[in-house]
Amino acid sequence: MKFFIDTANLAQIKEAQALGILDGVTTNPSLMAKEGITGKENILQHYLDICKIVEGDVSAEVVATDFEGMVREGEELSKLHAQIVVKVPMIKEGIKAIKYFFDKGIRTNCTLVFSAGQALLAAKAGATYVSPFIGRLDDISADGLNLIADIRLIYDNYGYETQILAASIRHSMHIINCAKLGADVMTGPLSSIEGLLKHPLTDSGLEKFLEDAKSFNL
Ligand code: G3P
Repeated sequence: MKFFIDTANLAQIKEAQALGILDGVTTNPSLMAKEGITGKENILQHYLDICKIVEGDVSAEVVATDFEGMVREGEELSKLHAQIVVKVPMIKEGIKAIKYFFDKGIRTNCTLVFSAGQALLAAKAGATYVSPFIGRLDDISADGLNLIADIRLIYDNYGYETQILAASIRHSMHIINCAKLGADVMTGPLSSIEGLLKHPLTDSGLEKFLEDAKSFNL
C-alpha cells in the first residue's frame, strides 16, 4: 500500500518524508489556501517545493471546470515537474479532460468521487488514480469503506489499472481498513499515519526493557 500525505504544509511533508515511508503527496485548493499560498507563481513554486521534498507523485488540482480550462491548467501543471499528477474533479467535463490527458500520456487523479459509478467512469476514461472520499461519506452517515470495497470489486472484475487512492482519511483505523480492502494508496493527515505507531503494550514493554537495561551500566 502506498502512503501519501494529504497536506500542502511543507513542515509536515518533511516530517512524513523523514519517516522513510512516504510515497507521495496530495493537495487540493482548500489545503493550499490553508497554507496561505496565493497567486499563480507562488502556487506553482509551492508545488515545486513539495516535489523537492518527496520522490513520489504530487497531486496538483485544476480549478477550471470547463474542458478547455482544465486542459490548459493541467498541461501547465504536468510540464512543471515529472512528479506532478493532474487532479481533476469528477464532473462531465472532468471525464473528458481525463480521457484527453490519458491520450497525451499525462497522469491524472480523479477527485471528489463518492460513488462506484463515478469510479467506473474514471477508470474507463483512463485515470491513473481515483480518489473516493471516505471520511466525507462517513460524515453524512454513509459507508466510506463500503465504497472502497465496491470499487475494488469492480476494478478487479475488469482488470482496470486505475489505482484506488483512499482519500479523506481521518484516522488510523481508516488506513488499516482500507489496507484490508485492498486500496492501492491512502492519503491522510500526518496524525493518521503516526497513529499507526501507537500501542500501549509497546510503550509499557519498552519502559520495562529500559528499566532492566539500567543494570547493564552501559
Ligand atoms: O485531498 C482530498 C481529501 O483527502 C480531502 O479530505 O479531510 O477534506 O475530507 P477531507
